[in-house]
Amino acid sequence: MKSLGVKEYFDKYAKEYIGQERYGFKWYKWLVDEIIREASPRKGQRILDLGTGTGILAVKMSRQVGGGGLILGIDASGKMLGAARQAVKNGGLKNVRFRRGLIEDMDFPPDSFDTVVTNLALDHVQDIGSVLVKARGCLRRNGRLVIGLFFMPEEAHLDAVLRMRRRNPLKAREADSDWQDFINTGVSEGYRDQHPEEREIGQLGLKRLMEKAGFVNVKIIMSYKPEVSVLSGVKR
Ligand SMILES: C[S@@+](CC[C@H](N)C(=O)[O-])C[C@H]1O[C@@H](n2cnc3c(N)ncnc32)[C@H](O)[C@@H]1O
Repeated sequence: MKSLGVKEYFDKYAKEYIGQERYGFKWYKWLVDEIIREASPRKGQRILDLGTGTGILAVKMSRQVGGGGLILGIDASGKMLGAARQAVKNGGLKNVRFRRGLIEDMDFPPDSFDTVVTNLALDHVQDIGSVLVKARGCLRRNGRLVIGLFFMPEEAHLDAVLRMRRRNPLKAREADSDWQDFINTGVSEGYRDQHPEEREIGQLGLKRLMEKAGFVNVKIIMSYKPEVSVLSGVKR
């Protein structure tokens, strides 16, 4: 099967993201909610959302930053951004902007943003290290980067998750059936085949890359599933 570029792939499959029904999956809701909790947007802040897709994070954070704040979402796919713009219009939101382009090409001066967030997008970037350097570069001092991703579970992390699951088997079973629903709906169908260059990275690998890019206080926030985590780090 021919490999599609990020733009072509997401233009083709945008319809599966539109309507934001993925928020119905527990793991996805966990990611979005946890990123926002960790980013803790405040009135007047400027937030950059890398790979904004249908703008779910941007829309949810819009009210928290208020009229004096700004959310800027970047995405390669015009179709995904079309849905994002529609969501902003439907919500009557005045403080959300979108820009079409590659995350890799961003070029913002220092102190442009208080926070950078990105959900389920960095794994499509070839050189994650240089994107992390750019993300740090555009933050203000004490600004924060918050990343949500599927990961290759690494041993240390997996152990902790298994311990957590043993403590709460009911929650773990619920999470597994939710995951199965995701696979059954076919939303991820064909992705791996068509996108063999997608990066696979573990939580600890990404933590090391964030530290190499100059972030401090880098932490891994685990969900109940080994594949799903949020990482955050601070620019000092
Ligand atoms: C799986 S979707 C996630 C969208 C959104 N962040 C969310 O949580 O629903 C990934 C998005 O990232 C965008 N994307 C992936 N790699 C990109 C890149 N290198 N440059 C720009 N956009 C990218 C895709 O077009 C797609 O809209």
